[in-house]
Amino acid sequence: MKAKIQSEFEKRFGGEGTFYASAGRINLIGEHTDYNGGFVFPGAIDKVIAAEIRPNDTDKVRVYSIDIDDYAEFGLNEADAPEQSWARYIFGVCREILKRGGKVQGFDAVFAGNVPLGAGLSSSAALESCFAFALNDLFNENNIDKFELARIGQSTEHNYCGVNCGIMDQFASVCGKKGHLMRLDCRSMEFEYYPFNPEGYTLVLLDSRVKHELADSPYNKRRASCERVAKRLGLETLRDATMEMLEAVKSDITAEDYFRAKFVIEEKQRVLDVCDALNNGDYETVGKCMYATHNGLSKDYEVSCEELDYLNDIAKECGVTGSRIMGGGFGGCTINLVKNELLDHFINEAKTRFNEKYGHEPKVYEVIISDGARRWEE
Ligand code: GLA
Repeated sequence: MKAKIQSEFEKRFGGEGTFYASAGRINLIGEHTDYNGGFVFPGAIDKVIAAEIRPNDTDKVRVYSIDIDDYAEFGLNEADAPEQSWARYIFGVCREILKRGGKVQGFDAVFAGNVPLGAGLSSSAALESCFAFALNDLFNENNIDKFELARIGQSTEHNYCGVNCGIMDQFASVCGKKGHLMRLDCRSMEFEYYPFNPEGYTLVLLDSRVKHELADSPYNKRRASCERVAKRLGLETLRDATMEMLEAVKSDITAEDYFRAKFVIEEKQRVLDVCDALNNGDYETVGKCMYATHNGLSKDYEVSCEELDYLNDIAKECGVTGSRIMGGGFGGCTINLVKNELLDHFINEAKTRFNEKYGHEPKVYEVIISDGARRWEE
């Protein structure tokens, strides 16, 4: 990938720039909790977006995407927003740095990636984090701290891409560390690195390669449900809500909002339970919590789909320790905690049965927990 980027950069702009990379992410547990002030438990993975970048002494950004085979050129003022959606991520990052009083000048860039698109592995966060990290290094003497870099990516989603996301993906992409998951408290933004090396188990993703993103932004709707319930409870977020509190207002809210909030309250606790279980090397409990999350995401939060429920059923039938839909939902991957001796059987079974039913095999990715945003020097 590096050689491809290098030769494309040389061809388009001449000479060379500096290389940067940032990662996609997985999340062991804690889904749709980030924008509710709860806990998440993600890690960066060994799939990245990488860019070669060089200031060009103008006020224009010129950037080429190898994977999309598309070129964009734009200025740095609000009115200069590019049309291509992929370029809006980069424009958004520039704008969000400038809005915070940081510095951005024109630059040339070529980028490529191997984070699968639409799989729920946060390729967009990887793209935002790669450029946020790079522009901090090139123009701001690295004065912007890592959390702010993550917030720059998140604000880009909110203000330039129409997704009202939480902080998890950008945080994981920026702060990820090889061999470690991170438990992040999305209210205080305190986090802890957890060494993650489950002996005797493999963490594997099955990418259904389906995407059912609906036009009316179901993600933003889920968030709005949570905010309505929090407001009804007199709370800023559902972080402090309990099932007792929710039951007390049940007759005042819609059934839909009730089930959304129920999921979030239960999921919040599951992250803490999984951390305790990991401390005790108790992977059976980790796995049970993963199944419970899947069930909640499917039945109460309603962000699963037929294909992912099917993959989850196959996992259960194969005796897989834990399995659940991962990320925002409506397609993408399941994440599976599998005993090593079951791995081959499970993967074969999942490929064959999924193919029989849906006409294509899921893609399989073994998870390797890796570093987040960085200068790409290796
Ligand atoms: C998407 C969002 C995240 C988070 C997850 C669900 O990935 O970008 O902020 O809300 O969905 O956990």
